[in-house]
Amino acid sequence: MTTVNFDSTLSDDERRARLYAGDIFIYSPTAGTKALVALAQEMLAEAFGPIDPQKIQDHKTPEEVAAILSVLKPAFIHHPECKRLLPQIMAERGVDLEKVYFDVPRMRSAYPSHFLSSGIAYAFHPHRDTWYSAPMCQLNWWMPIFPLLADNAMGFYPKHFSTPVENSSETYNYYEWNTNSRAAAAQNVRSDTRQQPKAKGPIDAVSVRYLPQPGGIILFSGAQLHETVENTTDFARYSIDFRTVHIDDVRERRGAPNIDSRSTGTTMRDYLRATDLAKLPDELIALYDDQTASDDKVLYFGDRLAGASAAQGPLR
Ligand SMILES: [Fe+2]
Repeated sequence: MTTVNFDSTLSDDERRARLYAGDIFIYSPTAGTKALVALAQEMLAEAFGPIDPQKIQDHKTPEEVAAILSVLKPAFIHHPECKRLLPQIMAERGVDLEKVYFDVPRMRSAYPSHFLSSGIAYAFHPHRDTWYSAPMCQLNWWMPIFPLLADNAMGFYPKHFSTPVENSSETYNYYEWNTNSRAAAAQNVRSDTRQQPKAKGPIDAVSVRYLPQPGGIILFSGAQLHETVENTTDFARYSIDFRTVHIDDVRERRGAPNIDSRSTGTTMRDYLRATDLAKLPDELIALYDDQTASDDKVLYFGDRLAGASAAQGPLR
């Protein structure tokens, strides 16, 4: 059973336990999320002005939009206001900032399906982030920038939190992906040939769509099966997401049960402490390392993360 909690007042410890058991939490906008959404709206307006960013597909080619996004998305990731607002947003939801580590926020876009659904605006097939080397304790925070419609939202398959899906996650290694594939994202405008972990057949369930207001949050385990639904509306969807891990859970190896994720490598080096942007201690990262981590691969990746090539961010 999946319980969906609205504006829950559970403590963070209780909430994480529920998230690892498959619950989903939906929150109303706060001062912090409204400010973050306003920043995103402002940057989109500046990039696409005077055209409504939700209708840009009626005015520009996929290549033109991809070129604009390849500048806009990294500018958002590295905007100093984001580093201030993310901790504020987590504090507003009762998270202990000394103990939470987050990955930089991404801006995502989902265009009407005939227009642009690959490369830098990749439309995500059903997946778990844990198929992409995320640890079982990763939590995802997701918010829309403009009002959502059911057919340009995120889709969830709560049934498959506890029911395995046959998939190809064993082909995915985080370090190899970062080394080989990320730079190609901006070039893959009209089709996407990169190997991604996928379900091996159709999902035997109907997706559930949650439609919070702009600045409202869907908080869920990275082990939930979720997707970007095919956008059959006439409006582009823009959203912000970031991921967190709690150091107590990292240390104790708590998290969602692993029912079908076999990816290798770990995203543990990506998360930064909310108070001072420190990385997780090496001895804790080592708990999640496997034999695929070698100095050159990990260092190369670290290098790349700092640069503008992180336009779309970890693809998961
Ligand atoms: Fe995802």
